[in-house]
Amino acid sequence: MAAPLRFDGRVVLVTGAGNGLGRAYALAFGERGASVVVNDLGGDIHGGGKTTRAADVVVNEIRAKGGKAVANYDSVEDGDKLVQTALDNYGRIDVVVNNAGILRDKSFARISDQDWDLIHRVHLRGSFLVTRAAWPHMKKQNYGRIIMTTSAAGIYGNFGQANYSAAKLGLLGLSNTLSIEGKKNNISSNTIAPIAGSRLTETVMPPDWIKALKPEYVMPLVLFLCHESCLETGSLFEVGAGWMAKLRWERTLGATVRRKNIAMTPEDVRDNWEKITDFSQSSHPASNQESTAGMMKVIQDIDAAVEAPVSRRTQSTGMDPELAKAHDFPPSSFTYEPREVILYALGVGMSTREENYLQFLFEGSEAFCALPTFAVIPAQMTMMNGLMQEIPGLKQDPVRVLHGEQYLEVYKPLPTGATITSKLKIADILDKGSGALVLYNVDSFDEKGEKVAFNQFSIFVVGSGNFGGKRASDALIPTASVPTRAPDASITETTHVDQAALYRLSGDRNPLHIDPSFAAMAGFDTPIIHGLCSFGYAVRHVLRRYANNDVSRFKAVKVRFAKPVLPGQSIQTDMWKEGNRIYFQCKVVETGNTALSGAYVDLTGSSEQASVAAPSQLQSDKVFELMQQQIKMRPGLASKVNAIIMWVITKGGKPVSEWTVDMKTSKNGDIYRGKPKSGKAECTLTVSDNNIMDLVTGKLAPPQAFMAGKLKVKGNLMLAQKLGVLFNEQAKL
Ligand code: NAI
Repeated sequence: MAAPLRFDGRVVLVTGAGNGLGRAYALAFGERGASVVVNDLGGDIHGGGKTTRAADVVVNEIRAKGGKAVANYDSVEDGDKLVQTALDNYGRIDVVVNNAGILRDKSFARISDQDWDLIHRVHLRGSFLVTRAAWPHMKKQNYGRIIMTTSAAGIYGNFGQANYSAAKLGLLGLSNTLSIEGKKNNISSNTIAPIAGSRLTETVMPPDWIKALKPEYVMPLVLFLCHESCLETGSLFEVGAGWMAKLRWERTLGATVRRKNIAMTPEDVRDNWEKITDFSQSSHPASNQESTAGMMKVIQDIDAAVEAPVSRRTQSTGMDPELAKAHDFPPSSFTYEPREVILYALGVGMSTREENYLQFLFEGSEAFCALPTFAVIPAQMTMMNGLMQEIPGLKQDPVRVLHGEQYLEVYKPLPTGATITSKLKIADILDKGSGALVLYNVDSFDEKGEKVAFNQFSIFVVGSGNFGGKRASDALIPTASVPTRAPDASITETTHVDQAALYRLSGDRNPLHIDPSFAAMAGFDTPIIHGLCSFGYAVRHVLRRYANNDVSRFKAVKVRFAKPVLPGQSIQTDMWKEGNRIYFQCKVVETGNTALSGAYVDLTGSSEQASVAAPSQLQSDKVFELMQQQIKMRPGLASKVNAIIMWVITKGGKPVSEWTVDMKTSKNGDIYRGKPKSGKAECTLTVSDNNIMDLVTGKLAPPQAFMAGKLKVKGNLMLAQKLGVLFNEQAKL
């Protein structure tokens, strides 16, 4: 076990330490070797009165346990005096826990000047004065730990606590800046919002709660944050009842509502309100710089945008392809984690009934990966975002649009978690008479700025045709006719009745797929499955049949959405292989209707290429060879382990080599390739070639690896623990 966190030689000042939370901190610091200044004015909870008793009792408690403590009875409003007590008695000041506090709760209309000022003087100004007095000493010694105490009332507001809320959140701002100014001198400043039973909360909490929410459950976080080994700074935590969590800011992607050379109006704000307040995609700016970084880009984008010469727009349909094509959409980002990848896979029918399901449904699987069609999700988000603004030259009623065709090309396998930034462009608008076909091209980039995918969404806008535009365009990526022979292979799969309800959680929340009344408006008897959901089914079928589920072999797919599939219906994917192109079409088994037509998937390479690595290329070989040398040099090691342990090394989810570590039958131990030559393995450990390196270098602890599914243990689990003896030697690798 790691060493306990001690504070020997450190001088800690806790304000308001005579009661409640402050007392718990002071006692714990005293027990762990700190010299503690126990400050308390000894007043009542509203800030009246003054006694020395409160501080004295705590000082005596600390001393009775053999600790070092001294009392200070000043108000935090005399910050200098508190710090002077530390300097006079112990010669330095290392930690300041700003904790002293009072309440003067009144509804806003009834707050007097005195109620307002006193609360600010004790909480905000008091913390300022104490910290300011300690600051130069901390700077000089290049070390300091500061805690500010805010409150949920400040973070979220609370009826009757306007004065307290304002002062308490002021402390967060103060701490945030101190964390920046203190960085180069190793001074950290963090803020906690505690919850604990104390005399302050006695009047607002039921007695059971007061008993249950012990200040001792807040204390450990404060001590950890104040320890020299903790480098956290500028953070905010909620803590109570033994639970604690960190908070951060979240910002919507927002909307640029200003347009070049057009006066910006409150109506622009109203019309973009949904987007301005939409948290379905968001960012977490962590500094002033990050917060304002996008502003210059907004200015540049607006300046660079083509002006909208209204006179050129076709008045009747609002369609003007040239104008729309020139529109510059700001890029937008989509952040996802394994959870989204798994949710998407379930949405397109991946199931634990499938043989290789762990690869797509379990983030702990070594082969865990995203289905390549997941790449439509970030792109679609960007397209939907882009369409929320008014686009010069494009007019469409969202209820009258149909998803006509989809093309997706992937340039490298999608990460299982990332922030993908996509850029939308209108590639063309075709005049199809009964409607307009709008081609949206979306390029998606990973965090390194490398292009990961290209999507083309072909959207048919009913009733927006006949605007005098062209009927065809080179920009449209064409569909392909399937061969006339009987299909080479077919896979049929029944969708779940809740398939659309599940798929929509990946991002396309169009009510058409869930709300019967909305579906009825669009002319359907029931909500329909998303076209991109059946598209996901079809590509899964192709990958399963022709690429052994190896997602790295997927290159591109094109489909036309011919007819909808209803939740619960069965999709039959008929496939024809011609080289690396797999032509396919999907039928609804129950109706015989073709749902996806003109479709193909392009694959790269062949499955043979993904063969397992030759044993000589394995990292694990090096590890075992080094272990062999170790046991030769340390003959006593074998008797310490006294067991036969077998290792199965995997690559790409498949076993590629086996090693036996025999520390039992041979006196000085033996390590060799293959199964045990004599005796039986008491424990078999399965680990991937990549993870074994992390295990032996200590980057991945064995219990963690086991919990994450990266280390499989068969047999006597306890024996695996003994390997620490060997691992410790290897950690020098
Ligand atoms: P408490 O009333 O038990 O302890 C506060 C101590 O501060 C008292 O001993 C008091 O004499 C002392 N004090 C008050 N004014 C002072 C001054 N001007 N100078 C020096 N000492 C002074 O209260 P509790 O609950 O332990 O609160 C500690 C801190 O935690 C306060 O800042 C409070 O606002 C904050 N807090 C507490 C919550 C809770 O659930 N207990 C919730 C949110 C915030």
